[in-house]
Amino acid sequence: MAVRGFTSKIEMEYVEKHLKSKDLYDRARKVFARGVTHDSRYFEPMPIYCVRAKGSRKWDVDGNEYIDYWMGHGALILGHAHPAITKAVVKQARKGTHLGASHELEIQWAEKVTRLIPCAREGLVEFTSSGTEATMMAIRIARAYTGRKKIVKFLSHFHGWFDYTIIDYNPDYSPPLVGDYPAGIPHEICKYTIALPPNDIEAVEKTVQGGDVACVILEPGGASMGLIPTMKGFLEDLRRVTRDYGVILIFDEVVTGFRDAPGGAQERYNVIPDISTLGKILAGGYPGGAVAGGREYMSLLEFREGDRGGFRRINHPGTFNANPISAAAGNACLSLILEGKVHPSINRKGDMLRRGLNDVIEDAGVKALAWGTTPSIIYVGFGIGPEDLEVSDIESYIRFQRKISESRSIMRMMEKALINRGIHPMGSRFILSVAHTRVDIELTIEMFYEALRELRSEGILKA
Ligand SMILES: Cc1ncc(COP(=O)(O)O)c(C=O)c1O
Repeated sequence: MAVRGFTSKIEMEYVEKHLKSKDLYDRARKVFARGVTHDSRYFEPMPIYCVRAKGSRKWDVDGNEYIDYWMGHGALILGHAHPAITKAVVKQARKGTHLGASHELEIQWAEKVTRLIPCAREGLVEFTSSGTEATMMAIRIARAYTGRKKIVKFLSHFHGWFDYTIIDYNPDYSPPLVGDYPAGIPHEICKYTIALPPNDIEAVEKTVQGGDVACVILEPGGASMGLIPTMKGFLEDLRRVTRDYGVILIFDEVVTGFRDAPGGAQERYNVIPDISTLGKILAGGYPGGAVAGGREYMSLLEFREGDRGGFRRINHPGTFNANPISAAAGNACLSLILEGKVHPSINRKGDMLRRGLNDVIEDAGVKALAWGTTPSIIYVGFGIGPEDLEVSDIESYIRFQRKISESRSIMRMMEKALINRGIHPMGSRFILSVAHTRVDIELTIEMFYEALRELRSEGILKA
């Protein structure tokens, strides 16, 4: 059957296999402006609609089964519906989902965070309802502590969708390739955020010399879950420079926290920030976030009695902060991470997938690369070589962005070819969980090879 409007065999098969998803998408577009509920789930001609998930697998409304590599946008390190987490959540749901009071689970949860995350070992924890809220709070703490207004971030690093960090704008670099201020964000706000090229320590040093920068925030493993890897030695340099100039160093560990190592990227690279933001795995796949860090910074949230000596505290309400369901799931998940078996297993699987994908790429004679700084998150890029990952100034950043954008158009078709074969990557990424088996990974590599050949035969991919 030829599907109207599609000339590619891959697209026609995609539509034919997802007719019920198409019906749901038609309904969704009547109630959601973009048809989906998260920008990254937007997919032409329509996304798949899923009904259930277990372990490494999920199933869509049309009855198709997938090996899932979204893994809850990275939140599900233990896989879907892990029995320990489900049990803890159901037990708590029976006892109440919001007690309108403090509860012991929130203390146990924070105790685990302070055991695991190095910058919080002698420090304090503040729970939020999402990773975005955690980075908002971390920046507020840095501003309150230093009395300074500006923040430094890095181009393509993601820290949630709020005004100060969604900007990738730097007036010093020429448009149109480097950043813009998105709709709805006042221009005045943009001038407080300075976006620098990843790994460019000279640019950081020059910027913080002005004495008006409160903090440097970054994804320690690299932009966008490791798409642009952080280069060796950069974190140490950043630690030194920020310390020298009294600037707060914030590691946004919403992705890398509890994933790069039990103690996150800071444990893996042995560079300890002042403050860290957490999310995703923190709450075992349920909504949650946290800021964790040294007492001198976090104590700006405390209530002080008596002589306040000019102390002005940071306010922090939030209906669902440390809600009992997320706390139950988070405790169950972090308990398993503390046992120490999760990371050897997941890192081995990441290694196996990365090597396997690179092997079939080589066999197929295609210019492409599978990489990833976080051992259990793998990227695939077409037309990319290892040399392209060395981004350390504005020129190399622009070059990389150009290549990635060319790669994405091929990857969009690759995604469809993989989905048709029962593999669901998150765009160009494959996010692993401990639930992925050797068989899952072998099958993924085999299907990737088949998809490469199909893209070749359709003329989408040249040797
Ligand atoms: C590094 C990083 N920081 C912050 C966030 C925002 O977290 P949330 O989506 O929970 O608001 C994300 C989300 O993907 C992220 O990857």
